Amino acid sequence: METSIAEIGAGVYRLSTWVADVAPPAGFTFNQFLIDADEPMLFHCGHRQLFPLVSEAVARIMPLERLRWISFGHVEADECGAMNAWLAAAPQAQIVHGELGCMISLNDLADRPPRPLADGEVLDLGGKRMRWLATPHVPHGWEAGVFFEETADVLLCGDLLTHVGGGPPITDADILSLAIESEAQFGAMTMAPGTADQLRRLAELAPRTLALMHGASFAGDGAEPLRGLAEFCQAAARASVEPA
Ligand SMILES: [Fe+2]
Ligand SMILES: [Fe+2]
Repeated sequence: METSIAEIGAGVYRLSTWVADVAPPAGFTFNQFLIDADEPMLFHCGHRQLFPLVSEAVARIMPLERLRWISFGHVEADECGAMNAWLAAAPQAQIVHGELGCMISLNDLADRPPRPLADGEVLDLGGKRMRWLATPHVPHGWEAGVFFEETADVLLCGDLLTHVGGGPPITDADILSLAIESEAQFGAMTMAPGTADQLRRLAELAPRTLALMHGASFAGDGAEPLRGLAEFCQAAARASVEPA
């Protein structure tokens, strides 16, 4: 395995590791995003087992000690398994997450106290501005949330629009169809009555780039696939409450 690097937007680096034996035969990518700024942020820590590969990739871009903020969408191994390895490698770094994630899990799991953010609060990295959007149970996990980078309109949307396969780092192709196929395969999303509205709230940000944890990033009108996913989820939530 190897971790490849692509700059998908100004100062936004995608670190991608394709793993052949997850979701074969297409395989599955695990992507982290490094946001270069006065106070650099890593979004998604990756698995503990991938830390040697991913940290070596970050070190090709900047010294690990420069990392100031470590974050992720929700508490799962691919999101935060290597969290404490990053804290050890970057002594100035601090975990930043939503208030709920800090209260429920990260005050206990993180080796140093995390910085909590309220829904809608902006963390100014110096050159990049990260707005935290709490998205409870979307795509899954009570503490779930995403970041919107406001200077370049990049939505770091984690597991949303997940699709299998290697593929290019960034595409303007139809990722919604791929994501719906993958969701049918995995059933990873919470299909609750409020899921669609939460996705539409993200679409209103009008992102120009969607940075996905699994699959290619998307360049273009990011609201469109988010609205399409909202429609899909709304139909699924309705179907789940209708009598058979
Ligand atoms: Fe997840
Ligand atoms: Fe994930």
